[in-house]
Amino acid sequence: MPFPLFTRFLLAGLTALCLLLGSALPAWAEFSLPPLPYAVDALEPAIDATTMTIHHDRHHGAYVANLNGQIQANPSLADLNLNDLQAKISQFPVAVRNNGGGHWNHSLFWTLLAPAGQGGSPSQDLIAAIDRDFGSMQAMRTQFEQAATTRFGSGWAWLIRKPDGSLAITSTANQDNPLMDIPGIERGVPLLALDVWEHAYYLKYQNRRPDYIQAWWPLVNWQEVNHRYAIATSGR
Ligand SMILES: [Fe+2]
Repeated sequence: MPFPLFTRFLLAGLTALCLLLGSALPAWAEFSLPPLPYAVDALEPAIDATTMTIHHDRHHGAYVANLNGQIQANPSLADLNLNDLQAKISQFPVAVRNNGGGHWNHSLFWTLLAPAGQGGSPSQDLIAAIDRDFGSMQAMRTQFEQAATTRFGSGWAWLIRKPDGSLAITSTANQDNPLMDIPGIERGVPLLALDVWEHAYYLKYQNRRPDYIQAWWPLVNWQEVNHRYAIATSGR
């Protein structure tokens, strides 16, 4: 359904606010594509502007449109916030799982990136937890890179905080994520995420996924990772 530009900005802002606050989308609202929090060329040269434009506007845009296309057949979607949908995803058809996951994953992913030099560094609390559970920051990075590199086909690599409070590295296929109530998924609160679908890197890196992973580290928005860890730890 076409909306005037102002309305689309309003809906995008509302969705971003709901994602941040974990509050329910109003029943009248469709899901909407949040704008990128930086310019499409802000992550150059590691991630080029053309890739960012296609990735955000077309791929993420398609997940949103396709999820909205599922509302009529699954009217309870309109009353669920995007976070809560993940934990109930097994109750819905696979199209909701793929597109609802795609919308949630990408909405998070954009916030976990920042122009090189602007993402800050891990907090002391996060470093302490990483040292406790992995031995060192370098060991965590190595394990994360292993998960991202070896994910066969399309999917994601994650640093999560598990329900017992420990941190872990995991990966999921397609658009699944660690919030989903799907057998075989290691569940926890995602703190850091990397999209390893070819659409995220192929234009610049072709089949060289490890090069994309190495180029991505300087773009991590550690301030957002710290924020997510603090919220997860506080139980809010
Ligand atoms: Fe993607």
